[in-house]
Amino acid sequence: MPARIRKAVFPVAGLGTRFLPATKTVPKEMLPIIDRPLIQYAVDEAIEAGCDTLVFVTNRYKHAVADYFDKAYELEQKLERAGKHEQLELVRNVLPKGVRAVFVTQAEALGLGHAVLCAKPVVGNEPFAVILPDDLIWNRHNGSGGDGALKQMADAAEASGASMLAVQDVPREKTGSYGIVAAPDFNGREGRIEAIVEKPKPADAPSTLAVVGRYVLNPRIFELLESTTPGAGGEIQLTDAIAALLKEEAVNAYRFRGTRFDCGTHIGLIEATIRYALDHEKLSNAATTLMQDALREMGVEELE
Ligand code: UTP
Repeated sequence: MPARIRKAVFPVAGLGTRFLPATKTVPKEMLPIIDRPLIQYAVDEAIEAGCDTLVFVTNRYKHAVADYFDKAYELEQKLERAGKHEQLELVRNVLPKGVRAVFVTQAEALGLGHAVLCAKPVVGNEPFAVILPDDLIWNRHNGSGGDGALKQMADAAEASGASMLAVQDVPREKTGSYGIVAAPDFNGREGRIEAIVEKPKPADAPSTLAVVGRYVLNPRIFELLESTTPGAGGEIQLTDAIAALLKEEAVNAYRFRGTRFDCGTHIGLIEATIRYALDHEKLSNAATTLMQDALREMGVEELE
């Protein structure tokens, strides 16, 4: 029986240049959707999938991520004394009991592949997940309470024993922004990948299945990363090591249920905020009125 993943790696050592100047001091992963930073959504998804060891690959400037998951004694005491039990629970539940956070440093931003390799000493010789927190995946709208994307993938990977990449269908004109997979036997949910092409022109793309920020990987990937030379942009690319892995063993594409927001871009972050606000238990009505008023005041035609 193939192993269940227990460890999740969060590569958060990138420079986040698209959100400068905010990211001069606030890591991209700490940008909030309503009241929770992106990293919290990613961590919750990993825990839901069954992970109990969270490996954060950070750089020396990103104290905020470590501070966020550290115990906040003074704050907890103050909330307790003030009788603010609801808020106290929120603070305490940032990292539930029984889940451990490990921080490793990527000394230089040498690429996503290099960041994943930095987690090798903690992950060891077992399958593991990689989550890119700026890809926020939502499967909860209208109170549907569906499984998170990583749980869906972990279940499928446990059954097949194969490594697995999350994919979503993108419009053909967008293939140039993604890694695109060729998976001839894709059944609409899952299929073995035969090739992966980084950012192909629409005419050259083997499909419209784009890789997004969730991976379940067998540990063989570490050895392949060690022998991966810098590719596009002088960075060690995870895609290059995956291309080598799929020549040796099964790597499947998995089309998750849910909506992905690319919170590494301005518009994606705005979209996620709007959708979460419209779905929010307490904010939904106020947010709807506010958006309608704003559109009306700005002279935007009323939507159907
Ligand atoms: P991105 O391509 O989104 O880069 O990295 P970035 O630096 O975070 O953001 P921009 O493009 O400058 O705005 C994809 C993921 O890989 C991590 C990032 O933190 C992000 O989660 N990463 C990237 C590293 O951890 N180390 C690296 O050397 C590069």
